[in-house]
Amino acid sequence: MKKLEEIFDDKLLPMDEAKRQYYFIDAAKDIVAEKEAELGRKLTFCVNTFGCQMNARDSEKLVGILEQIGYVEGKDEDSDFVIYNTCTVRENANNKVYGRLGYLHNKKKKNPHMMIGLCGCMMQEEHVVETIRKKYSFVDLVFGTHNIYKFAELLVRALLSDSMIVDIWKDTDQIVEDLPVERKYSFKSGVNIMFGCNNFCSYCIVPYVRGRERSRNPRDIVREIEHLVEDGVVEVMLLGQNVNSYGKNLDEPITFAQLLEQIEQIEGLERIRFMTSHPKDLSDELIETLAKSKKICKHFHLPLQSGSTRILEKMNRRYTKEDYLLLVDKIRSKVPDMAITTDIIVGFPGETEEDFLETMDVVEKVQFDSAFTFIYSKRTGTPAASMEEQISPEVVKDRFDRLLAKVQEISQKKSGALTGQVADVLVEEINGQDASLVTGRLSNNAVVHFPGDAGLIGKIIQVRLNECKGFYYIGEQV
Ligand code: SAH
Ligand code: SF4
Ligand code: F3S
Repeated sequence: MKKLEEIFDDKLLPMDEAKRQYYFIDAAKDIVAEKEAELGRKLTFCVNTFGCQMNARDSEKLVGILEQIGYVEGKDEDSDFVIYNTCTVRENANNKVYGRLGYLHNKKKKNPHMMIGLCGCMMQEEHVVETIRKKYSFVDLVFGTHNIYKFAELLVRALLSDSMIVDIWKDTDQIVEDLPVERKYSFKSGVNIMFGCNNFCSYCIVPYVRGRERSRNPRDIVREIEHLVEDGVVEVMLLGQNVNSYGKNLDEPITFAQLLEQIEQIEGLERIRFMTSHPKDLSDELIETLAKSKKICKHFHLPLQSGSTRILEKMNRRYTKEDYLLLVDKIRSKVPDMAITTDIIVGFPGETEEDFLETMDVVEKVQFDSAFTFIYSKRTGTPAASMEEQISPEVVKDRFDRLLAKVQEISQKKSGALTGQVADVLVEEINGQDASLVTGRLSNNAVVHFPGDAGLIGKIIQVRLNECKGFYYIGEQV
């Protein structure tokens, strides 16, 4: 087996970052092949993803590299290489990871070839990495969100080393294009259009763990989507923490609406989704683009967070209750059938009953198609964590329950709106409960089940929506 110094010989290492990583993929391939020969079997991996769509997309990049190296997908945590791609947006996400690590330790005692890797947002927090070094020293590889493109290189180090490899960067301005990716679905894909966040909402850890906002070059985005379409993709989800501020920091600035117009032109692409939109940057230009587009889906995710202008200010969201309501009116006046969904936090420090009722009022007025409701979670290092007047758990629980009941009542009421109509459904999978049915999504993201077989997966089919059962439709092909 080659030694670490031989592989990391400066004379051999390519200067170009993508080429450098392909060099390490080749080096890792050799190491893995030797291990396979020794064991008489393939090495397996399992990538466990927590958190948002950004992390899901990052995991696809990890899987792409692992498969190029020669690993094959294994059975859950019995695999030879288990990776947790972590989220730290709320406390319970962190606790889940610590809980799983104890379990993994037992597995590792039984399989001496097993490697454990941790990456993602949680690893960008110093106290987490300290805890892992101290309490979980059996972990093999720890890296962060900024250097994920160096995965092959770090993996080579971990494969050839007996001690924990830790590599965390505080920030980066680099975007490395053209590394391998393995998609979870053949027909749809996430596409990063930007990384990081500059908004510093006072409760949120994301800007600290994902770094400053960086937009990808529109040419790289369009080229990636063209390749995806050639490879069978019909739906893309454009990803960014605040897609409405896309392009502002490029050398040749362009707006998100202009990017959407370029993507709309890509032949063979059928559906465009995006997330997440910040209300403060939602332009009239974007609403016009939505109204004109034939491909942008009829689903807008517009996080509200709170309906109280006073709390919104403390959250540093930079819009008022009235601004938000006006935006919703504008969207609906131009695109009446647009489904609107949201995120709401309950129990932000200093939230009074009156503030909470303002949130309930917005929920009532907007009639969201669905809403993700969260209990405020204190994130160390954010401004809100040191605010006085943290709300007692009993009060928060009571408000949360009332909000959830209201949100559910409204989404139930709204969910059957298309009953009787014929609509386009992108078929995603065979139904988990009944194999004679397939499951797909409408443009507005509603779920539809109808009789069909695996041959329909990835196709857009016209379906009559016969009946609405709570949160999904039952239909038939027309
Ligand atoms: N960039 C997106 C949100 C990413 S985080 C946006 O601005 O909309 C996803 C959601 O998690 C947020 O919308 C918020 O509702 C929730 N969230 C973030 N930090 C939180 C915290 N400290 N406690 C509870 N929920 C939080
Ligand atoms: Fe967090 Fe606000 Fe950035 Fe969204 S916009 S990721 S909530 S700081
Ligand atoms: Fe979580 Fe990181 Fe996404 S903290 S929500 S995985 S950006």
